[in-house]
Amino acid sequence: MVVLSRDEEVGGRLVRRAADVGCRGVEWRFGDVTDAGQMDSAFDRLREEGGVSACVVTAGRNLSAPLLRRTPTGWQRHDPEAWRELVDLNLTGTFNAARSAAPLLAEAGDSTLVLLSSCSRHGSAGQGAYSATKAAISSLARTWAFELGRLGIRVLAVAPGVVDGEALARRFTAEPMYRRYMQDLADHQALPGFVPEEEVASAVAFALESTSMTGTTLEIDAGGFPARLVRSSVRGR
Ligand SMILES: NC(=O)c1ccc[n+]([C@@H]2O[C@H](COP(=O)([O-])OP(=O)(O)OC[C@H]3O[C@@H](n4cnc5c(N)ncnc54)[C@H](OP(=O)(O)O)[C@@H]3O)[C@@H](O)[C@H]2O)c1
Repeated sequence: MVVLSRDEEVGGRLVRRAADVGCRGVEWRFGDVTDAGQMDSAFDRLREEGGVSACVVTAGRNLSAPLLRRTPTGWQRHDPEAWRELVDLNLTGTFNAARSAAPLLAEAGDSTLVLLSSCSRHGSAGQGAYSATKAAISSLARTWAFELGRLGIRVLAVAPGVVDGEALARRFTAEPMYRRYMQDLADHQALPGFVPEEEVASAVAFALESTSMTGTTLEIDAGGFPARLVRSSVRGR
């Protein structure tokens, strides 16, 4: 198994963690999903080494920024550069990775492409860019399932809720107010609390192992956020 990402140190940690849980033979390599040419090179190398029968595209990040905010000095609008960067990573990055992987998956046959969506795909006040990219990813899973099914490729999306993992811990440290905001949201889900990261991994494994599931989004989100509460939480921030 090969993991493509940009930070070698983080990649090394992931390889060691995989080994700790009995998953040996994982190798890290540099890969930047925002660079279509670089993705092609990474997958060309994988073709030379025997091909790819499963690809899971997880690269992405969150961004909290409303379209419009009233400040003491006037209106603050969403920064267009921050919007573009997030769309480049989450949406165009997913496209670049899928585009590079697709021929190899077709050559392998009976193969799977899994994309990371989010429960925010249903709308998440204060996170317009993020939720739009994640809705688009679920839409792509459905579209590509129809485009690629006859080539022997199943395409699925996995949409977690708030995952209790490294990314959340990092964000809590960087933005202490974020903890209260996320806790407030999680407390009002159908099932209160955060989603264990192992459950997201299990959902990805289930998606990879199935034979007739395609085009759908698996939601592991404790029921998701009620939309009215999301709005009141954002106003209260
Ligand atoms: N955590 C949650 O609560 C949650 C909930 C729903 C959905 N998700 C989704 O799950 C996915 C993983 O998120 P996470 O929470 O595990 O966040 P994370 O720990 O920050 O992981 C994001 C990964 O994306 C990689 N990445 C970032 N930019 C990249 C680029 N240009 N090219 C290649 N790799 C890149 C990062 O590695 P490098 O920086 O080293 O490249 C990192 O491995 C994301 O798509 C996220 O939207 C997360």
